[in-house]
Amino acid sequence: MTLDEFLARAAELERDGLARIADAHDAAALDDARITLLGRKQGALTALMSALPTLPPEARRDAGAASNRVKGALEQALDARLAALRAAAAPSWRPLDPTMPARATWRGALHPVTLVIDEIAAIFRELGFTIALGPEAETEWYNFGALNFPPDHPAMELHDTLYLGDDTLLRTHTSPVQVRALQAIAPPVRILAPGTVYRRDFFDATHAPAFAQVEGMAVDEGISFADLKATLSEFARRFYGRTRRVRFGPSYFPFVEPGAQMDVEVDLGDGKGLRWVEILGCGLMHPRVLEAAGLDSERYTGWAFGMGPARIAMSRHGINDIRLLYDSDVRVLAQFAP
Ligand code: DAH
Repeated sequence: MTLDEFLARAAELERDGLARIADAHDAAALDDARITLLGRKQGALTALMSALPTLPPEARRDAGAASNRVKGALEQALDARLAALRAAAAPSWRPLDPTMPARATWRGALHPVTLVIDEIAAIFRELGFTIALGPEAETEWYNFGALNFPPDHPAMELHDTLYLGDDTLLRTHTSPVQVRALQAIAPPVRILAPGTVYRRDFFDATHAPAFAQVEGMAVDEGISFADLKATLSEFARRFYGRTRRVRFGPSYFPFVEPGAQMDVEVDLGDGKGLRWVEILGCGLMHPRVLEAAGLDSERYTGWAFGMGPARIAMSRHGINDIRLLYDSDVRVLAQFAP
């Protein structure tokens, strides 16, 4: 045999062998191909190499190198094909293991302050109030001017209020929603306005720079202080229990006249029994506020109140530090989840 003939047979073996490997569609067919091509006794490569001694001595080195190359190429193709067949046969899903422990699930819950707001809203909804919302970035006029704050009122100084610009600020209370609601809806108006308010205060046991308030307001012809007392007393009885006593005392807010506060007898769970706790500020709306909202204060009267649901949540759960509520540590808050 000449070297050319040998090299031609080697090339043919490689070509046919690669085609055969590519055609093997399962592991058994691939095994057959491996034996036919590379089998030590009967394999095609062995047969080819048995012709080596018939070559002229100076051709044997090249012929040997060619057969080794063919062997390497076939082995590599066999391995690659086997890997491809295995990958195709592997299931893409893992079999269900019913003994595997379930992943811990995170069940969300409403914040204790949100729960109080929802409860307050549900009670006032039954009393005929609808929800009204206002912006947290307010103008000085809505936050103070329209609410009859005198220009030199200390709350208007920088240390109480977070200003965003010359005229815009983060509202310090939800009371500006009173004016916005009266501008938007003609009386009779009964609204409840929950929302976040901001003050330039330190975050300590009794203050938070951002906290929730709930504002309420009723405006119509002939509304009197008796309506205020009846509605807020009924609210307190529904919220705290029908046997709870409430009392009203005088208080001052520039946007009400007369201004009052409502106290409820509450058990704080500290073993000291019932005691009076201030729940909200309220009063008959100042005529200037009604006029600022564009209403005729000779014709319309109204009453309003504002309360801090965080303080109510604190009194309800015996919490003595507001930071426990507003730090948002779920280890604390999760304890109040229903
Ligand atoms: N806006 C008051 C505050 O931030 C709370 C308040 C008091 C609201 C009396 C009222 C009210 O509507 O009549 O402390």
